[in-house]
Amino acid sequence: MTPDLRGRSFVKVLDYEPVELRHLLDRAAVLKAEKAAGEEMRTLSGKNIALIFEKTSTRTRAAFEVAAYDQGAHVTYLDPSGSQMGHKESTADTARVLGRMYDAIEYRGSAQTVVEELAAYAGVPVYNGLTNEWHPTQMLADFLTMDEHTAKPLRETVFAFVGDGRYNMGRSLLVMGALMGCDVRMVGPREYAPPADVVHMAESIATQTGARITITDDPVVGVAGADFVHTDVWVSMGEPKDVWLSRVEDLRAYQVNAELMAAAGSSDVKFMHCLPAFHDANTGVGGEIMDVTGMPDGLEVTHEVFESSASIVFDQSENRMHTIKALMVETLA
Ligand code: CP
Ligand code: NVA
Repeated sequence: MTPDLRGRSFVKVLDYEPVELRHLLDRAAVLKAEKAAGEEMRTLSGKNIALIFEKTSTRTRAAFEVAAYDQGAHVTYLDPSGSQMGHKESTADTARVLGRMYDAIEYRGSAQTVVEELAAYAGVPVYNGLTNEWHPTQMLADFLTMDEHTAKPLRETVFAFVGDGRYNMGRSLLVMGALMGCDVRMVGPREYAPPADVVHMAESIATQTGARITITDDPVVGVAGADFVHTDVWVSMGEPKDVWLSRVEDLRAYQVNAELMAAAGSSDVKFMHCLPAFHDANTGVGGEIMDVTGMPDGLEVTHEVFESSASIVFDQSENRMHTIKALMVETLA
């Protein structure tokens, strides 16, 4: 039976069953093909979607806006300086106000508790566009992208996440990989592993789905046999700038470079990154940190790997839009 997701929020991947996540990935693939063929149908005409961003964004905002417009919906962008939320009005009150006017609400901010409170009070679907803890819409894009770049089913796919596993990306990839039955390697210093409760949750899901979970501080062991090597920035949004130097010292042995990609042992291994990435000195922050730390070739990933034929980061980035569209269509149309 086709899953019915109408009216559902998506504040973390654990909100959905594997079959429901699979359905969203399949729907996204169809919507992507229909758009490419010029055959897309507008199923969200007359819908209005509020986009709340308490942190900056390029991909997530653009993906929600383009997906909404493609489907005939309208969006309103609200940032902290342009709304009362948080400083003059509580989350619960904001949720009830926006829920009376909008058909759905996207929220990006710091605490997961805020997006969960919005979902509890809004009375309309709420989508998590990134919190410190989870990045569920990114998972839809990442898994669609992996699907597109391997002939293997996800339950036979091996991927490694290398770097800071404590944040939204590491945690989400671990849990999504467990839900989809993958061979998941979390690779980084012990103190950068995802929190124990998240690891236990993933291990418990794995007993149901057949996923294999490995937590290791050995980068070579971690990536051996991987079809995909993922990483994320070493300092996430909202963290103070002064953690950069110690972070680089802690994580420099986990940079995704040509040597680490070779350790996967396959010429087909692909590199993935949610972006933005510090792979060259062409950004204010990246340039300064690369200079001070003596890492001219890149931070979490080298420019060489980022620009190599193994890199599928822009497919991944494009897929944000197709998968977010699938989410909105399935929960709202
Ligand atoms: N990957 C991602 O969420 O990108 P943005 O921060 O640009 O939205
Ligand atoms: N961990 C990163 C992900 C950015 C998409 C951050 O939170 O800044």
